[in-house]
Amino acid sequence: MREISLHILDLVQNSNEAGATAVKLEIIEDLSKDSMIIRVSDNGRGMNKQLRQLVIDPFITTRTTRRIGLGLPLMDMSTKRCGGYLNIDSTPGEGTVIEAMYQHSHFDRPPMGNLVETIKSILVANAALQFSYYHTVNNKTLTVSSQEISDILDGVPLTQPDVLIWLHGYLSDNIANLYGGAKDENN
Ligand SMILES: Nc1ncnc2c1ncn2[C@@H]1O[C@H](COP(=O)(O)OP(=O)(O)O)[C@@H](O)[C@H]1O
Ligand SMILES: [Mg+2]
Repeated sequence: MREISLHILDLVQNSNEAGATAVKLEIIEDLSKDSMIIRVSDNGRGMNKQLRQLVIDPFITTRTTRRIGLGLPLMDMSTKRCGGYLNIDSTPGEGTVIEAMYQHSHFDRPPMGNLVETIKSILVANAALQFSYYHTVNNKTLTVSSQEISDILDGVPLTQPDVLIWLHGYLSDNIANLYGGAKDENN
């Protein structure tokens, strides 16, 4: 079972490969609605209708003539197994919004995995990307953006070892706080 944070990495990588300069990740966990929504929006090249339909179906016949990966079909299947969906909203030349929904309490819902490492590696590996991360758990909200972090660092590069340690602590404290302060990265 693929952890949700790995699906998130896949989505952000797709946005990167589509030439996006700005990517927004939203994670919305609402226990009263029993839902977890993962939404990645980008300003990359987008997909036309044909490609949008093609990418979701791993068994489509034209797959043999053009290499299409399995990132989106796997996430689509994983949401559907958990009472959810994966929706692609895309406009060629403007960008793409991928929204995945899981029933939060579903027995088969993959664990979040290591969100701290995921956000950290997105930020560190894509220094030129305008990345923003919004995470809501019931009534608590966290916002972290590459802009805000570069303001805090004031010119010090993210790749410096002590900065990486600071970033790790910053993300783990803030994410733990969302989940009521318990230091459980696998929530
Ligand atoms: N955010 C995006 N913007 C534009 N095209 C996308 C995006 N995400 C996916 N695609 C298109 O869908 C295809 C399939 O994506 P995916 O299932 O992740 O497999 P892979 O990335 O290995 O090709 C990509 O090759 C790309 O053509
Ligand atoms: Mg991919």
